[in-house]
Amino acid sequence: MSPLRVAVVGAGPAGLYAAGHLLAPKEGTYLRGRLRQIVTREIEVDLYDRLPVLGGLVRYGVAPDHGEKKLVLDSLGRILDNPRFRFFGGVRVGTDVRTEELLDWYDAVIIAVGASGDSVPGIPGATLPGAFAAREFIAWYNAHPDSAELPVRLDSERVVIVGNGNVAMDVARVLSLPTDVLRATDIAGHALDALAGSKLREVRVLGRRGGADGAFNNPELEELGELPGVDVTCTGFENTGDDGQFGTDRKLATLADYAGRPSTDAERKIVLSFCASPVEILGSDRVEGVRIERNDLVKDPSTGRVEAVGSGEFEEVPAGMVIFATGYFGTPVEGLPFDESRGVIPNDEGSVVGVPGGYVTGWIKRGPRGIIGTNKKCSRDTVIRLLADADAGLLPTGGTLGADEVRARVRDRVPEVVELDAWRRIEASELERGKAAGRSRDKFARVDDMLAAGGVQ
Ligand SMILES: Cc1cc2nc3c(=O)[nH]c(=O)nc-3n(C[C@H](O)[C@H](O)[C@H](O)COP(=O)(O)OP(=O)(O)OC[C@H]3O[C@@H](n4cnc5c(N)ncnc54)[C@H](O)[C@@H]3O)c2cc1C
Ligand SMILES: NC(=O)c1ccc[n+]([C@@H]2O[C@H](COP(=O)([O-])OP(=O)(O)OC[C@H]3O[C@@H](n4cnc5c(N)ncnc54)[C@H](OP(=O)(O)O)[C@@H]3O)[C@@H](O)[C@H]2O)c1
Repeated sequence: MSPLRVAVVGAGPAGLYAAGHLLAPKEGTYLRGRLRQIVTREIEVDLYDRLPVLGGLVRYGVAPDHGEKKLVLDSLGRILDNPRFRFFGGVRVGTDVRTEELLDWYDAVIIAVGASGDSVPGIPGATLPGAFAAREFIAWYNAHPDSAELPVRLDSERVVIVGNGNVAMDVARVLSLPTDVLRATDIAGHALDALAGSKLREVRVLGRRGGADGAFNNPELEELGELPGVDVTCTGFENTGDDGQFGTDRKLATLADYAGRPSTDAERKIVLSFCASPVEILGSDRVEGVRIERNDLVKDPSTGRVEAVGSGEFEEVPAGMVIFATGYFGTPVEGLPFDESRGVIPNDEGSVVGVPGGYVTGWIKRGPRGIIGTNKKCSRDTVIRLLADADAGLLPTGGTLGADEVRARVRDRVPEVVELDAWRRIEASELERGKAAGRSRDKFARVDDMLAAGGVQ
């Protein structure tokens, strides 16, 4: 019997986990609570990414000082060595290869492209130079080729971050860490240089609701209080008591500790402001400040959620840069349906609605929430659905190409496609450059440099 051939699009955690589940030994898979042998066919997986490198947000999102979280990529070794696995890096699905073509070439296609847009509030001044979505700023300090040229200026004493989720915690920490700590990490060289010359004295983090509603997790919140040479304080924080949600008691205890800390002559300060919403970004040619409204908190009786309601009291705070850490947002994939309100591809248990053979996983399936590990089960659910469909004869039949024919077509479209050998050369080169500079890795921030290191250009 011919193998079941699957294309996975997106080499972030969701795509990598999906590939891993597909290539797992076939002793069986849990399906509706029972261990069952779903497919007896051998499975072959081709993983596509628009960039020449693997990792998605593990490489381009996870903060440089959280190197231990990137070790998850090392466990990939087993997939990469599997002869039924191939990587086609530097191939953008939707332009280099159309989704419809992939659906023709393979038995099934799993889309795992993450969320490449932003959810930025449409307040006046939000597009002034000096205002960035956290996605862009984080991509800049992580050496993502799309953001290498971002015009970041760290010449003012205050930066305001809007939103207080874990992304905001990462940005506040990276902006505040001493350069000699960052130098040992894989932070982009251009970001290290800019941060070394930073005039920053204060990072202000605006949470529109109260301390109990902060979107941060306690370990990330606690890390702020451990930064060398940095004071952490709170404004607008009232200990409203535990709402019974998991972890709220610990977050409130950490905030109460920060609120009670005496101010020192530390070089830098992080101010966690609560019940505070930006209503306008001030400035004529670039960001010069933020107009902030104090909020009252009102519990919505129908949902139980505490909502922020403007109080009509305002303050204006000078700042040279504003970073909107108000959430990532999915963008449409050519040839597939899209739910504009949620930023996801509509799906039924991972099967794309109205597209036989089309599947989704990760942030483009569920929305931009959840940690790396959340994508493991998400991808497993999608793979189980795909295999059950294959078993039930629900995948489109006919036309599937063999592995050699697919490679020939991909090479025809993208002659400089990065396959595993070339990717390994890029990896080795980055690690070597890092070692020479006393850093964990020195990333290439330009695709051309990656292609040259991979020997494909
Ligand atoms: C700033 C930040 C920090 C985080 N830190 C942590 C952390 O410390 N610990 C933790 O557990 N979780 C962390 N997370 C969460 C974690 O990164 C996500 O849960 C996870 O990356 C989502 O996986 P994904 O595969 O859906 O998307 P992504 O990781 O975004 O991967 C999507 C991939 O698809 C590719 N792609 C996009 N469009 C195309 C296309 N058209 N054709 C081909 N390829 C395409 C992209 O290049 C990318 O490689 C963090 C998230 C963010 C935003
Ligand atoms: N270390 C880690 O493990 C790590 C690191 C980074 C990211 N992640 C994960 O990645 C996911 C995404 O994180 P995230 O921080 O981007 O999202 P998030 O957790 O959803 O936080 C978004 C923040 O923006 C606020 N916000 C949204 N719209 C706003 C508006 N119009 N005005 C003002 N504030 C607004 C939210 O406030 P409300 O709460 O009031 O809506 C919240 O504070 C999360 O699951 C996170 O845990 C994990």
